[in-house]
Amino acid sequence: KGVNDLDKVVLREVRGSSAEVYLYGGHVTSWKDEHGDELLFVSNKAIFKPPKAIRGGIPICFPQFSNFGNLEPHGFARNRTWSVDDDPPPFPVPTSNSAYIDLILKPTEDDLKIWPHSFEYRLRVALSPGGDLMLTSRIRNTNADGKPFSFTFAYHTYFKISDISEVRVEGLETLDYLDNLQDRARSTEQGDAIVFESELDRIYLGTPSKIAIIDHEKKRTFVVRKGGLPDAVVWNPWDKKAKAMSDFGDDEYKRMVCVEAAAIEKTVTLKPGEEWTGKLELSAVPSSYYSGQ
Ligand code: BG6
Repeated sequence: KGVNDLDKVVLREVRGSSAEVYLYGGHVTSWKDEHGDELLFVSNKAIFKPPKAIRGGIPICFPQFSNFGNLEPHGFARNRTWSVDDDPPPFPVPTSNSAYIDLILKPTEDDLKIWPHSFEYRLRVALSPGGDLMLTSRIRNTNADGKPFSFTFAYHTYFKISDISEVRVEGLETLDYLDNLQDRARSTEQGDAIVFESELDRIYLGTPSKIAIIDHEKKRTFVVRKGGLPDAVVWNPWDKKAKAMSDFGDDEYKRMVCVEAAAIEKTVTLKPGEEWTGKLELSAVPSSYYSGQ
């Protein structure tokens, strides 16, 4: 069996942290700290094969976020099978001693019928010795017809939390957002931090490069750092929408929150030969170590 026949690749670091990446979707499905504690949420009802995207982990939304366009919601990258890229071009590796895997996605003939643009999407997933998870996406326009293309994008990360009522998200206060529950009406965040008391589905615009998700019960803080991705989506489906999703347990909304590094409001446009880079870096630290901005 060749490496591209594998279902998933496992990255391990000497101090005990690990990560799993499915070739289906180029999808990170597990990220564990050095004690073996899982940090990402994956639904007990998740399906790990086509055509549905895996419910949890880090789905990649490309070339379209949600229904901002004519493609299926969140685009098709999350439900295609990627290949291991054995010979990637020089890559800015975050730390030279990280464990990492390189994947690649190119459109098939059928993909070109629904999105008529040729591209090479290279994804590096790296785990640092300290257990930080880094995703780097490089998307290149390989159109031979001289045409540019535009896309929207998100790393749709599902964080595993103790209880949604114990969680706050910091770093998005005073920002403008589009409210997906109000026909994408534009509002301004008023609170000191985001807390969850009902369904929430918002696209925060022009956000800082660092966002924190503080889990009071676990005394753990996730720090999200991003590059090339100005926006951030915050989503929790709450009880009613949870029940409506066939691949999501009725009560699972209590144990997850999505904070998604994204490029949505301003589409990314690439001319032929041009490349875009979007980076996500996740760390999980004891809340006592986290010193805010
Ligand atoms: C979020 C969107 O990013 O993804 C929500 O803001 C959407 O509106 C959610 O419901 C899940 O989408 P899907 O396609 O994975 O069920």
